[in-house]
Parts: sequence; structure tokens; C-alpha cells
Amino acid sequence: HPSVQERIEKKRQAALTGGGQLRIAAQHKRGKLTARERLELLLDPDSFVEYDMFVEHRCSDFGMEADHNKYPGDSVVTGQGRINGRLVYVFSQDFTVFGGSLSGAHAQKICKIMDQAMMVGAPVIGLNDSGGARIQEGVESLAGYADIFLRNVMSSGVVPQISLIMGPCAGGAVYSPALTDFTFMVKDTSYLFITGPDVVKSVTNEDVSQEELGGAKTHTTVSGVAHRAFENDVDALLNLRDFFNFLPLSNKDPAPVTECHDPRDRLVPGLDTVVPFESTKAYDMLDIVHGIVDEREFFEIMPNYAKNIVVGFARMNGRTVGIVGNQPKVASGCLDINSSVKGARFVRFCDAFNIPIITFVDVPGFLPGTAQEYGGIIRHGAKLLYAFAEATVPKITVITRKAYGGAYDVMSSKHLRGDVNYAWPSAEVAVMGAKGAVQIIFRGKENQAEAEAEYVEKFANPFPAAVRGFVDDIIQPSTTRKRICRDLEVLASKKQTNPWKKHANIPL
Ligand code: COA
Repeated sequence: HPSVQERIEKKRQAALTGGGQLRIAAQHKRGKLTARERLELLLDPDSFVEYDMFVEHRCSDFGMEADHNKYPGDSVVTGQGRINGRLVYVFSQDFTVFGGSLSGAHAQKICKIMDQAMMVGAPVIGLNDSGGARIQEGVESLAGYADIFLRNVMSSGVVPQISLIMGPCAGGAVYSPALTDFTFMVKDTSYLFITGPDVVKSVTNEDVSQEELGGAKTHTTVSGVAHRAFENDVDALLNLRDFFNFLPLSNKDPAPVTECHDPRDRLVPGLDTVVPFESTKAYDMLDIVHGIVDEREFFEIMPNYAKNIVVGFARMNGRTVGIVGNQPKVASGCLDINSSVKGARFVRFCDAFNIPIITFVDVPGFLPGTAQEYGGIIRHGAKLLYAFAEATVPKITVITRKAYGGAYDVMSSKHLRGDVNYAWPSAEVAVMGAKGAVQIIFRGKENQAEAEAEYVEKFANPFPAAVRGFVDDIIQPSTTRKRICRDLEVLASKKQTNPWKKHANIPL
């Protein structure tokens, strides 16, 4: 019927222009793209299949029932599409419609794609740009948030969930990104906080700007709420595409394998000299990681937070792997509260999604001090231990130098079901460093220097661990890539299960 056709076309056109040209111009002026422009950049050309273009909000208070207050599609664009040919469900909040605020209808649209993503087994990416709860709707909007939170929790560990914060995200709205696996931010234009600067001022009398309170720098360096920050919308979306290529579609999917042009048996001669002879001297664990992985490509997660541990994704012979490494360059690579939590969360993501974990160990122990003890290092350190222990994915460990004390146990040791554990010739597995050890066991005795030399001779080498089978082999560093690639092939068919439980009780 021509009049219906006309109406369909008109509504579609209205949906495509969101809040109208003026508001689109305002969005651009802020350096932000529109919801639809963002999806165009994120997804493969012509792959976006939109749902619910005709959905409208149902609020009839405060004049909202008026035609000019109804926007087809309301304040979010939803659907599915492809990234490098692989399926993904997406929502993109439209700041030009009521500031991207979340109405009941908006939430319903997001829930619809989340439900379908779960059924077919595909990741969900949310592009967040919203003024929060639709104020005119009240509890309807709050209900909408809770409906999304519940789905975030149910999807956790089933399909990967990624949030990209591209504008405001405040109040209850922050908890959806917080529940997802990865939260990325755009520098200067995005912020996340529970309450804004005005409320902070009235409650705690602190003067703080939006940027200081919840900008990208704060969350990627201080709070650990966000995992990476990008320069602008385009940079963020292109990086998200790259990142997506590392991820399996669901927990039933094996880690993706891509074609690899980097020889799997490539020797890395530089590794034979990367660890300094003096065991107190620092070096950069990233040099080792870059040298070993395919094409030196490493997508680091939380690169500016708890830098004493390095975590991120890479590929070995085309297969996605998760990398964990102590970073001797920062605080001697010792474990503390923040690095334990950072590492634990990463290890658990890898385990949930069938991504093998490669761990590089150079750890002098846990960081001493009241700040750490009062902060609960015992409880937080336990998380990393727990995460490595429960993980059933292939686990390969390389001790490059120190593996001291409890931290030796924690770092994917043989005892926590490490599948293949290597030591480099520079490895020292001991309760503690020789100096400290001698000060305790030879307290007040003469010949401390002699005792120290004896301790070094006995423990500052890979043999005590190797003779007990706690490492499987002592390998030449330059052969590490070759060995790991071979091990991963063998371990690809690894099957290991944990005892039945309703769910585990990781110390939180
Ligand atoms: N509900 C309904 N409409 C909202 C909204 C909300 N939560 N947040 C913003 N809007 C609307 C504004 O009324 C405005 O409408 P208009 O285009 O018709 O003028 C539009 O979205 C843009 O908002 P504006 O305030 O002009 O943008 P801004 O960039 O200056 O500020 C915010 C953005 C998010 C900081 C500001 O809008 C804000 O503080 N919103 C309320 C946040 C809040 O308290 N939410 C509820 C608690 S979760």
C-alpha cells in the first residue's frame, strides 16, 4: 500500500538522522562521530544488519508523548554485523537523541541483541555515549539497566563482551561496562564515574574536574577500570577491529587461528643475551615477548596500570595466546595488589575462552610493606594464584630469571598444573635471594660472604627445580619460540576438567 510504503520510508529516514542535523553537527564539533558513523568504521562494509529501527519510547509524561519527541529507533542503534568476516552483535548509543539516555525501549533493544548473541554464540560490542537514565522515565529506565546487567552477568564467560566508552557514562550506567570483559576509552571525550564533580564537591568537598575524576587517563593509570585508551573515535574503532581478531566467538569456539608468515621454528638469538648477568639489573620483559610472538605483534592490556606485570594477546604460529609476564623494569617485577588483580582477571578471561596462556617469570616475590598488607595483598595475591590454578587451558611457563618464594608457586608453576615449564640457564628458583637468605640462616655468624657464595652455587641456578622435575627442561633462550610453537600444537587437544561445582569461590 503506497501510504504505508511512504510511512516506512519516512520513519527509516528519520531513524537514520537520529536527533537531527544540528545535534549531529554538535556531536562532530566535540570531535565525536555519530552512532552510525561509528558502526560503519567498526564493521566490515555493508555487513551491518539493523534491528528495531522502528522502536519508539513509550513515555507519556513531561510532554514526551508529542510527535516531535519521538525518534524512530530511539537513542540507540542495534544489530549485528561482521568484523573481518566474523559475526558480532553491536549497540551504539546515539547521543543526538535525548543525549543517548537510556529509556525502557533503548534497554529492550540492547537486551534483544544480547539474547540473540548468547543463542548463536557471538561477542557483543557496546559503544557507549549516554547521559544515563532517561530522566523522564524514572524507574522504567532503572529497570532497563538492571535487565542489561543481568544479561552481562549471564553472558560472562559465554561470549566475549567489550565496551568502548565514547562519551559520558555515569551513574548506574557504568556497571554494564564494568561487568564486560574489556573496557576501552577514547581520550578527552569519554568519562566514567558513579557521581559527577558537582555531587563529589557537595559530599566530600573535593574539587575535581570531569577529566580528573573519570577520564581515560584516570581509569587507565590509577583506578584500573579501563583496559586501554585511544586517541580519538577512529583510532579506537580501528584498534577494536584488530583486538576482535584475537578473540574466539564464544566459550565453545577454539581460539582463532590466522595464517602465519612468521616461521614457527624461528630462532631468536637476541634472547640469549637479554637477561643481564647481574641478577639485580633490570631488563624489559617486553623485549622477550616481542621477540617470541608472531611478527612482534602484541596487543597489551592495561599497559599503563600495574606496570610490574605485563598482560596481553599475541599469536604463536597464528594461534591466539594470552601472555603474562613479570616486568623486571618496574619495581623489580614484584607482585603487589594491583598487579595480582590485573593478572588474575586476564588469566580468567583466557581460561574462560580457550586461549592458551604463556607465562614469563622473573619475580623476586611479593612487595613488602604496611600499604600492601593493610590493603589486603594476601587476599588479592590469592586471586592470581587461584586463577592460574583453576585454569585448564594449555599453560606454558618460562622462568627467565628469578622465581622466588610464594611468587614462584603463583606464576603458573608446575604445581598449579603448568603443562610445560621451562627454565632458561639464567633461572634461579629459591625461597629468596642469596643475600637475604644468608642473613637469616647464618645470622651473627662469620664468613657471610662464603655462605652467600654457597647459597648462590646451590640455588641461583635452574638445577634444584630441574632435578625434581619442577621444570621440564632447561632450554637455550633463542629456541623458546620454536619450543612453545611445538608445545602448543601438542597441547591443542588438551582436555582437563575441574570438579563439579555450582561456581567457584575466588577470594574477592
Ligand atoms: N535523560 C533525558 N534527556 C537527557 C539526559 C537524560 N539523562 N541527559 C541528557 N539529555 C538530553 C538533554 O536534555 C539534551 O537535550 P536536547 O538536545 O533536546 O537539548 C541532550 O540530551 C544533550 O544534553 P546536554 O546536557 O545538552 O549535553 P552536554 O554534553 O552538555 O551534557 C551530560 C551531557 C550527560 C553531562 C548532561 O546531559 C547530563 O548531566 N545529563 C544528566 C545525567 C544524569 O544525571 N543522568 C541520570 C542519572 S544516571
